[in-house]
This record gives sequence, structure tokens and C-alpha cells, in this order.
Amino acid sequence: MLEQVAQRIQTFLAQVQSAPIEHMAGALGQGKMLRSKLILAICPKHPQLLDFCAIIEMIQSASLLHDDVIDNAQTRRAHDSINHTFGNQNAIMLGDVFYAKAFVELTKLDINIAQLVAHSVVELSRGEIKDVLASSAFHTDTARYIDIIQDKSASLMVASCAGAAMLAGLNPQAYRIFGLNFGIAFQIMDDLLDITQPKEVLGKPAFSDFKEGKSTLPYILLHQHLDSKDQAHLQACFKNADEQALTWCAQQFEDHNIAPQVLEHIYHYAHLALQAIKGHSALEKLASSLIEREF
Ligand code: FPP
Ligand code: MG
Repeated sequence: MLEQVAQRIQTFLAQVQSAPIEHMAGALGQGKMLRSKLILAICPKHPQLLDFCAIIEMIQSASLLHDDVIDNAQTRRAHDSINHTFGNQNAIMLGDVFYAKAFVELTKLDINIAQLVAHSVVELSRGEIKDVLASSAFHTDTARYIDIIQDKSASLMVASCAGAAMLAGLNPQAYRIFGLNFGIAFQIMDDLLDITQPKEVLGKPAFSDFKEGKSTLPYILLHQHLDSKDQAHLQACFKNADEQALTWCAQQFEDHNIAPQVLEHIYHYAHLALQAIKGHSALEKLASSLIEREF
């Protein structure tokens, strides 16, 4: 089914009638299609299912194309990023094409689903702005971190899950709660993997977050364990981390047992997600397997 989603995206892109767009889109590589997996587990059959999945994946790709320009990222999905290969202007415009074409197709769906998805893009963009503003200085505010990832990462999951529930004729509220908490858990996991996994597993350099100016949960928790001298050192490394600084951070994470503490937060949100959809065994199984990746 995921292969059919990929084909539907190709069809939508072909309709734009531009060889350069198809060429650049081909260099983007395919993601994990996480949101499509959730949608298909919630709504296995519907005439507009492939369109809905393709729309969500194209919005996700658009947001990442823009995010890589903002973060000046060199790698995405284990390939050179589009901004790295084709420049920022093309990456931004390709993101606009993905986004605009997805919205053309979105207008053909039920108005309630269209509004849900459109609203999630507002939240997504609001989250990215919060993230950019937060990157000016290292912060240790867990509530601020959760607020940012709720907008930046969970909002499209909420729209995917609640939209799939609407297509399936289920009550969307439970799936909205699932999407929100699952999205938060998934992003915290992503932020944990950034400090525990090598670049071969991540498909991008390790420790990218701190280098890019992201005060993620592992660093916030570490800060709480350090004395004032080491806190100052951690702050000095923010956006300024050479190999020696990263080795120091890695050792501090180890010494203060940070990964298990981050996992507790992940399990807290994963539990809230699973509670909301108790009895939906296909989704429970999928969500658990996705959260346990790489561990
Ligand atoms: C990745 O964060 C970024 C996002 C999930 C959201 C980006 C959103 C926008 C750029 C708003 C614009 C939206 C559209 C649809 C055009 P990250 O940098 O923490 O993750 P990464 O390590 O995967 O880059
Ligand atoms: Mg990024």
C-alpha cells in the first residue's frame, strides 16, 4: 500500500508538468512514510485513502524542504539535501510546489478534513517559527520544548490520525489525542536518537540538534544534573560544538544516565497515546513498534 502512496505522489507531481520539478523531487528520496502508516492502520479502506496519504506526505516533504533551508542541513533521508544539491532557491520553490499541489488535491476531500489539515499547517509553521526563535540561545524550559514539538511535529500527526478516523467513520477525538501524544513521543525519540545513534543509522550527522541550536530534552535534562561550571561549559558549546565538545557531551550523557530518563518521558506520552485508542489493536501494535525503533 505504501508503494501505491508513492505512486500517487508521482502522479500528482507529473500533473504539475515540469521536468525540473520531477528531477529534483526524484532526488528527495522517500521518507519512512510514518504518517501514511498511521492513516492506513486507522482507515484501511476508502476510495480517497491514497489521495489523503499522498497529500499528507507531500505536506510533510514540503515542510522538510523548507526546514533544511532554515537549518542549512546538508543531508536528508540519507541523501544530500535538496538545498545542498540544487541551492536554497530551488529547495524553497520545490517545497512550495509540493505544498500547493497537496492543497489543490486537499480541496477535493471533505471540507472538515481539508480544514483540519489546513489548520495543522498553520500550527506546523507556528512551531517552526518558535523553534527558530528558541535557537538564539540555549534554554532549559521543558514546557517550552514540549510546546514547540507539539506544533512542529505532532500537529500533522493529529491531522493525519483524526482525518483518517473521519474517513473511516470513527470518532476523531480519540485519534486526535492519540496523534498528539504519539507525535510528542516520536519527536522526543528522534531527539534521543540524535545523541545515541551514529550517522549511518540516522541518515544525517549525529548531534545535529545541538549544532543547529536546538535545546532538546536530552540537553535540558543534562543541564539539571550539572554543576554551575559544567552548565556554563554546556551553554558555551551550544551552536559551537567541535569534536572535543561533542565527546564531552557524550560522556556527560553517559555519566548522568540521561538516555533512560529521556525514555521515561517517551513512555509517558506513548502511554497517553495508547490509552486513547485502547482496543484498536492494529494501531496499538504499529505505534509500539514505531516508538521502540533502534532500541
Ligand atoms: C523538522 O524539525 C521540521 C518540521 C517537522 C516542521 C517544519 C515546518 C515548516 C518549515 C513550516 C512550513 C510548512 C510547509 C508545509 C511549507 P527538525 O529540524 O527538528 O528535524 P530534522 O532533524 O528532521 O531536520
Ligand atoms: Mg531540521
